[in-house]
Parts: sequence; C-alpha cells; structure tokens
Amino acid sequence: MSKPVYILGIESSCDDTSAAVVTDEALLLSNVIASQAVHEEYGGVVPELASRAHQQNIVPVVDAAIKRAGINLSDLSAIAYTRGPGLLGSLLVGTSFAKGLSLGLRCPMVDVNHLHGHVLAHFIRRDAADRVPPFPYICLLVSGGNSQIVLVRSPRDMEILGRTIDDAAGEAFDKCAKVMGLPYPGGPHIDRLAAEGDPKKFRFARPRIDGFDYSFSGLKTSFLYTLRDGLKTDPDFITANKADLAASLQATIVDILLDKLARAVKATGVKAVAIGGGVAANSGVREAVADFCAARSIEAFIPERLFTTDNAAMVATAGYFKYLDRDFSPYSATPYARVSV
Ligand code: KG4
Repeated sequence: MSKPVYILGIESSCDDTSAAVVTDEALLLSNVIASQAVHEEYGGVVPELASRAHQQNIVPVVDAAIKRAGINLSDLSAIAYTRGPGLLGSLLVGTSFAKGLSLGLRCPMVDVNHLHGHVLAHFIRRDAADRVPPFPYICLLVSGGNSQIVLVRSPRDMEILGRTIDDAAGEAFDKCAKVMGLPYPGGPHIDRLAAEGDPKKFRFARPRIDGFDYSFSGLKTSFLYTLRDGLKTDPDFITANKADLAASLQATIVDILLDKLARAVKATGVKAVAIGGGVAANSGVREAVADFCAARSIEAFIPERLFTTDNAAMVATAGYFKYLDRDFSPYSATPYARVSV
C-alpha cells in the first residue's frame, strides 16, 4: 500500500492566518483559522497591522493544524502556500514561513493562486462520500476584490468568461453599508438586516453592459442618491428604512449577479454551478443560485460558509491537485499582490 499524501496549506493573503491539512482525495484533516480583530476599529484592513498579526499567528496556527490532523511534520508530502493575490506584507509572512519549513523538512512546496483556491473550495471533502462538481462547471467567484464568472474545465484549466469592470460585489455591499453607518465589513450586516426588510421597497440602478461582465459602480451611486434624497425630507430616513434599504440593495446585487450567470450557463451548457468567495456567504446569493439551478435541473454547489471566506483548506486542496501533477514551486518564487484567475 502506498504512503498517504499529506498536504499542509498555508493562507495569509489578507487578515486571516490559516493552516490546514488534507490527505488523499482532498479529505480534510484539519483547518485552523486565526482572524484579526485589530482592524475593526479602523473600518478596514490595515496592511501593516495584518502583517504583524500574521507573524504572531503563523507558528501556533500551523502547529495546531498539524496536531489536529494527527500527523507529524515529517509526514508532509508538500507545503502549499498562497502566493497571491493579496497584501504583499501578509503574503510575505506565509511565503517565507513555507520556504523555511520546506527547506528544514526537505519537503517540496506548491504555490497556490488564492482565487484558484476559492474556485476549488468545492473539492474540499469532509467525508469521502461528499459530492464534488462535475467538469466543466461555472463558478461565480464573488468577494471583496473580485466578481468573476469562471468556466472550470479541470483543476488546472480555468477561463474567466466575465469580470467586473469597476467595483466587486463585496465592495458594493461594504460601501453601501458604510454610507448607512454600518460597521466594516458591511456585507454580513446587510445580509442580517435584509432578512427583515422589503426587497421591493427601493429601486436602484442596474448596469447595462454587454457580455458576461459586471459593473457595480452605478448601483453604488444610485444607492447614495436615494439616501441623500431621503435625508432631505426625513433626517431619520436611514434608521427608519434600514431593513428595507438593505433588502432592496441585496436583491439588486443578487439580480445583477444572476442575470450574467444565467447568460453564461446558457452559452456554455454546463450542468453545474458553484459559488465561491466571501459574498458566497450571503443568504440572498445562496438562495438565488440554489433556486436558479433547481429550476434548470442543474447541480448547485453552495459551500459551507466557513469555506467562502479565506481559509487554508482551499489552499491545501488546490495544492493537492498541483502536487498530483508534480508542479512544485521553486525557492525563487516571490509573492504577487495582483493577478486574476
Ligand atoms: O473573499 P473575502 O473574504 O475577501 C476579500 O476578497 O476581501 O470576501 C470579503 C467580502 C467582503 O466584502 C464582505 O462584506 C463580503 O465578502 N461578505 C458578505 C457576507 N459575508 C462576507 N457579503 C454579503 N453577505 C454576507 N453574508
């Protein structure tokens, strides 16, 4: 019997330090995440503070992931790390740690594109019987920095069919939430408020652009104007309409996302749709994609909320596929702040 594969994943692209271990078939053995509360009071992630917190967290987080997986460091087959995109200082912590560990253990490294990780999060298995998407499938990748429609032909063959030409869906959630006076990041607050509001109370602008591309900047402006006009006649306009504003905003974002998704599904004829990235945690997006797929008798892959935000389980999983291809990372590999899928 051949030795089991053990891949350690390390994720440090933004403000979560995470380490995970997967074994054969991307079966998850551990996934440890240390989030950084330090940014809350600044209304956004402060890159320097994020790097410092990663430095403090990385050793205990990796240690806990190895222990929870019930293995020793010497059992590792490879170390997968997020090389980019993300905050450079944050990425440097994970990359340098991976290099040091790899040299010390004489164990190969695999570099992972963070966005590939989000797309491949659906291959993380908690149980050998877990369903995974059939190729080809479409992944709606929606986060704070990206909104993309990705055609996934294999773990190594992905094509971006559409992307945002301005803001990402997460930015639209966060910026509109900010003007309503909600804390950062606003997306989850909008989600919570939307559950109690009327999604048809307010109408906001929708983009008119061709193809599969997205745009959210017009919606943002239209949301701002609605608040400005409402406040002219009623100083309590926001407080009095909080839930309805949130519900109407969420419904508009969901409609915009689903419109292009529907076109891409029709054009490609795929039989499965997956969602990934932070905004995939949104209740409206999850429900709409599930309904969309059910109405067309295609498979929907809605990830556990834990795997929508940044986590090392997806990095270890993406790394597992690269490991199978023996696609290792040289020590000369440096992190990159920007790149698409
Ligand atoms: O993928 P992610 O963790 O990292 C970035 O790309 O930054 O996504 C973060 C984004 C933020 O914009 C956040 O507001 C949004 O995901 N988000 C949500 C929800 N949970 C997180 N947006 C709407 N509803 C949610 N429940």
